[in-house]
Formats: sequence, structure tokens, C-alpha cells
Amino acid sequence: MPAPPQSPPDPCVMVIFGASGDLTFRKLVPALFQLFRDDRLPPCFALVGYGRQPLSDGDFRARLRDGITRFAPDRWSDAAWARFSPNIHYLQGSYDGREGGFDRLRTRLSQMQKECGAGDNAMFYLATPPAAYQPIIRGLAEAGLERSVHGWRRILVEKPFGSDLASAQELNRALLAVFRERQIFRIDHYLGKETVQNILMLRFANSIFEPLWNQKYIDHVQITAAEAIGAEDRAGYYDATGALRDMVQNHLLQLLMLVAMEPPVELDAESVRDEKAKVLRALRPWRGEFGTEVVRGQYSAGEIAGEPVVGYRQEKGVPPDSRTETFVALRVFLDNWRWAEVPFFLRTGKRLPKQATEIAIVFKRTPHSLFAKSTGQDVPPPNVLVLRIQPNEGIALRFEVKAPGPGVHLQPVVMDFPYDSSLGRHAPTAYETLLLDALRGDGTLFTRRDEVEYAWRALEPLLAVWSHDASTLHLYAAGTWGPPAADRLIGASGRAWRCP
Ligand code: BG6
Repeated sequence: MPAPPQSPPDPCVMVIFGASGDLTFRKLVPALFQLFRDDRLPPCFALVGYGRQPLSDGDFRARLRDGITRFAPDRWSDAAWARFSPNIHYLQGSYDGREGGFDRLRTRLSQMQKECGAGDNAMFYLATPPAAYQPIIRGLAEAGLERSVHGWRRILVEKPFGSDLASAQELNRALLAVFRERQIFRIDHYLGKETVQNILMLRFANSIFEPLWNQKYIDHVQITAAEAIGAEDRAGYYDATGALRDMVQNHLLQLLMLVAMEPPVELDAESVRDEKAKVLRALRPWRGEFGTEVVRGQYSAGEIAGEPVVGYRQEKGVPPDSRTETFVALRVFLDNWRWAEVPFFLRTGKRLPKQATEIAIVFKRTPHSLFAKSTGQDVPPPNVLVLRIQPNEGIALRFEVKAPGPGVHLQPVVMDFPYDSSLGRHAPTAYETLLLDALRGDGTLFTRRDEVEYAWRALEPLLAVWSHDASTLHLYAAGTWGPPAADRLIGASGRAWRCP
């Protein structure tokens, strides 16, 4: 079935700050190139890379070409590149506006807007290290680039959005001193994933799940984002950040909001984000109690898929005495009508046995075991609905049936819907979806100011305790599911982590 038609976005010039960085050539430009190949970019679209390194247009294009062929080889096409690349340019400049970089950008933009007929629309993407965000925002304002009489201006902000509540509020103030909220698109790439968007379809386009989606029928929810990779080549960033800030503040809390939110009045950006923000308002404040509500861990040497791997402190660029967490498990309660006393267990970690992001809705057991006498089994195990976010995207429902043969024996079976083989349509990458939505001015899949600030506010007690209590970091061997303390956290209430 073909995708429903969408009106094409307005013509525009997109400016990427941090153009010579990794994100640009690994993710952003491969996504733009795929959109171009799918005829989803506006007919007049041009890209300006702005960065500190001296590069010619030719150097920049060669680097982007290399990025697509290395990181998205299945998208490559010589013919499409020959049509796409002439609209890519590079401008060298500093991020603090010294040496007139932003004035040159203004001149270049208006030239390009005329050449390619892009009207006066421009979209700025902040893909630099976060320290450069505020200088760039100021530079744009001083050069008068933040406003347009005949067109629109938008700004996209990559994560991390702040490193605590105060810095996130400061960044929001800096943005809102120059742009309106509807011009600001804060990126959380999880929201662009097809399976994450599907949470709302599953819940609100079907009548069988929603009546059960509450404390009457759900025992608990597990949200797991496991990664087999370690610190990779980002030790500098990661060691200053840790798993709580890197994964929980944004991706895991976003998944929590989508699973727990009330149905929005409409599917527009404000209605959806209103409901998401309410979830975080209902979050019961953590007191930072180690063991019962939070566990933090760090991987030591171990094995992944049969290969030995070093411990976190032996990774290149990580201080040998680092106390940064690479694993977090949390118990969360939402104090509202729907979720009263239903625990949500969240966990994320690096160097776990495999990559697996999933949400498991674990239902309450039957109130009485009709089969106990004949089967000798206790109350049957609970039904579980698993939303597999990645990989092997899909949805699976586990329930009990009669085992074939004489006698009464229960046997669990799984009804499984795998995305790729069932729907047979190319799923866009997260960045394709997000870039297209931003070009169309749709902010639904971007985080609003209040969501970001509520999320940081929620983590404040943990960050405060962690800043002065260094004793509670549990080591776990790479290739295991985290420290045993994480099993005790969920096990204390008679529950257990699923094995994804
Ligand atoms: C990023 C984190 O936001 O998300 C990384 O900074 C993490 O540490 C990544 O590896 C995970 O994203 P994905 O799409 O691979 O699940």
C-alpha cells in the first residue's frame, strides 16, 4: 500500500552548524539524500554547511558523499547525487560570530535563496557541541537571521539539551529570547523511530488495548534500552554525561510518556505534547534511594558475543578512576488515576548482551486459577504485550493455551507481528522523519520546553545524591544484564526483568 500523499514542504535553505562533525555525515545528510531520492524534499532546497574548518564546497561534498557511501550504502545513487550535490555549499566561520561569519552567512543565504527560488525560508540546525549553542543563537539574532518578513525561520536543536535543570532552563531562555516556541524543534531521535510513533497508533487506533491500559489490569511495565556497544569513540562526552543524562532524561522518559499518556484531543503538536507533559507532572519524586528505587552500574571487562571486551575504565579516553554510570535501573510511579501504584521499571545500559529496546506491558494474573487442581500449576503466568522498538521491530502478545494431548496442561504461546515482513514498506530512518516534519513545520515529534524541563526536574534528586555519594556504583561484567542489584530492585516486589 503506498504511503498517503503529503503536501510538499515549502522551498527552503537549511544551514547545519557543526557541518564537519560526525552527525552531519553519518545521519543528517544520508537522511536528506534519501528524502531527495524519494521526492520528499521541496523542489527548491539548498544546504549550507557552516563549520570552523576551512573546506571548499568540493571538499565538503566529497566528505558527505563518503559519509553516505559508508553509513548508508543502500541509499547511494550516482545519478541522484549528481542532481543533489550542486545545491550543497560550505561556509567557514566561527560560532561566536567573530570575523563576520554570520554576516557572510546572511549574504550567502540571500544569494542562494534567490538562485534556487527558496523564498525567504531558512532552517538552522545546531549540530555542534552544546557549548556553541548559545553563541550561535546570539550570532543569528545579531545578524538579523532569526526573522523573516516574507518567509519562516526554524531552529533545530540536537541533544543534549542541557546537563541539568538550570542549564536546560538557561538554554530555553536563550532560545526564547530570539525565537518563538513554534519555531523551535528540540530533537529526541527516538521520537522519529517508526515503532515509537506506533505506540500511539496501537493504543488509540484499536479498541482492544485501551480499556485494559490502566491499574486495574496492568501489573507493571518494563522499559528497556539495552546496547551492546561501549563508550566507542565518544569517551569525552560520555564520561561527563553518564547513562542517566544520556538515555534516561530523554529517550526513556519519552517512551514512558507515550506509554502512559492520556488520549490527546487531536493529533496536533500541542495536544499531544500537553498530554505527554502531564505524565511527567504525575511522576512521583525520587528520593534517590539506592537499591529500592535506583541502581547505577558501570561495566567491567567481559565478553560480548564470544569476544572479550575491556572494562569502561580501560576504554580509550576514560579516566582510570571514572565513576560515571554506564547502566541505570529505576522504579517509577505515576501518581494519577490511571496508573496509581503501578510500578514502571526502566533500565538502560551499555555493554549488555545485545542491543534491544522494548516496552513490556505485563498484565495482572487471573484472579483465580481454575486449572490449578488439574494441572498442579499455580495461577498461570501473566499475559505480556511486548512492543519491540528495535531491532526486529514488532509487537508480540503472550498468552496461555491448552497444551495438545490428554489432560489439562497450560502452555504459553506468542502471537507475533514483525514489522518488516508484514508491512513490506521501507521505513524511514528517525532523521528522515524528523527532518521532513521540521521542514513541514510539524512539531509533534519534537520536545517542548516544559517536557524538557519536567524531565530534568524529575532527575534532580538523583543527580543531587549522586554528586556527593560515590559509594553506590555497582560493577557488572560486560555481556551481562547489569549488576545483581538491578535484579533485586525489581525482585523486591516479586517481579523479574524480562530477557529481551
Ligand atoms: C544517543 C546516545 O542519544 O542514543 C547514545 O547519546 C546511544 O549513547 C544512542 O548509543 C542510542 O540510539 P539508538 O537509536 O541506537 O538506540
